[in-house]
Amino acid sequence: MDYDIKDISLAERGRLRMEWAEMAMPVLKAIRSRFEREKPLQGIRLSACLHVTTETAALMRTLKTGGADLCLCASNPLSTQDDVAAYLVKDLGMPVFAIKGEDSKTYYDHIQAALSFFPHITMDDGADLVSSFHFIALEKWEDLIPSLRDWAKALSPSQRQTMIHGLLGGTEETTTGVIRLRSMERSGVLKFPVIAVNDAETKHFFDNRYGTGQSTIDGILRATNRLLAGSIFVVSGYGWCGRGLALRAKGMGADVVITEVNPLRALEAVMDGYRVMTMEEASEIGDFFCTVSGNVNVIRREHFLRMKDGAIVANSGHFNVELDLIGLEDISVSKKRIRDFVEEFHLQSGRRIYLLGEGRLVNLASAEGHPSSVMDMSFANQALSVEYLIKHHQDLQRKVYPVPEVIDQEIARMKLLSMGIRIDQLTKEQEHYLASWEQGT
Ligand code: ADE
Repeated sequence: MDYDIKDISLAERGRLRMEWAEMAMPVLKAIRSRFEREKPLQGIRLSACLHVTTETAALMRTLKTGGADLCLCASNPLSTQDDVAAYLVKDLGMPVFAIKGEDSKTYYDHIQAALSFFPHITMDDGADLVSSFHFIALEKWEDLIPSLRDWAKALSPSQRQTMIHGLLGGTEETTTGVIRLRSMERSGVLKFPVIAVNDAETKHFFDNRYGTGQSTIDGILRATNRLLAGSIFVVSGYGWCGRGLALRAKGMGADVVITEVNPLRALEAVMDGYRVMTMEEASEIGDFFCTVSGNVNVIRREHFLRMKDGAIVANSGHFNVELDLIGLEDISVSKKRIRDFVEEFHLQSGRRIYLLGEGRLVNLASAEGHPSSVMDMSFANQALSVEYLIKHHQDLQRKVYPVPEVIDQEIARMKLLSMGIRIDQLTKEQEHYLASWEQGT
């Protein structure tokens, strides 16, 4: 079996950490028990491009138990937990291609390995696997890095046929990936149905909000060991991730400032009790800056130039494009690594700016990503969406589909059950009342 990981001897540590994570993932565990009996994924080859974490390992165990043949590559160069990668190779016998800190060429070599698995199903986090597949299928050679292009061009006609026509469908984990896929659908190029796991309510209400909220603070604190109380903490973007991050920063005693481009979200932030202003204004006062907008160059050269000496800058959005790092390099006279995941940029003005985790998602670069109990619901959505795709792919078109509402509701029900929480049921009278229009005052 082919694989590319840092060090297989880390496997035992990875196993113990995976077991710890699984203790907080009861919904996924219940799905695994059913998959063990029913084997709904038997005979399916699945390539996953995910953050290689303890929670992802629990998902891989579940899918394997369901009968799938799996291949896993990293969905970000800096998010891999090397001990988990070792555990998956050694104990689960899975081909894994992921090394924390891998360069861009290695990252795409690993995506290539996941494509060479000729999957029936893809599972993506950020849509790098699916977009690479489409660049190949559409022969958009200029959009591929040279090594992946050479590999794709060397495929035999029958390999190309298997790769392109063998794919039944895919799932997508995150907001950024869903945005990319919808753009592919609108352009008419999407080649198979994809389920937008991110858009399930049991995903983004919890994972994006409470998961990103807590783990981003965790990443910033592990990297810096600075005090948030009494500081000014600037959050860029007030989507679900921004809402969660602002809430947790406020809870730690920070004075939270929001920057937004959407007037409704900006208004919501004001009424949630935060100061809202432009980045031009915020850049002069912030002690911490964290982008969670999903857009490019949200903090730019002109903003870095206004920042106070010692400002700490991080990103928790999917791609490292939210900070204008080229601009930051340009205005700096020198840079040096101060401690793990902290780089000091010395500006011509004499001021210093501290960049965390190379501007990559700080919650996975310098911490461990979302806690297991929210990933429990996200990955339950993944497992059940794969099962759904296998059963229903013939009825689906080349579109982005929501997670079926019955799956979403079932996951919420299972999560409540695992927490020992019972809720009321509608009475017959209430059902009737809700279904009728005749009853007024
Ligand atoms: N994305 C954010 N946190 C994660 C985690 N713990 N595992 C996998 N993907 C994640």
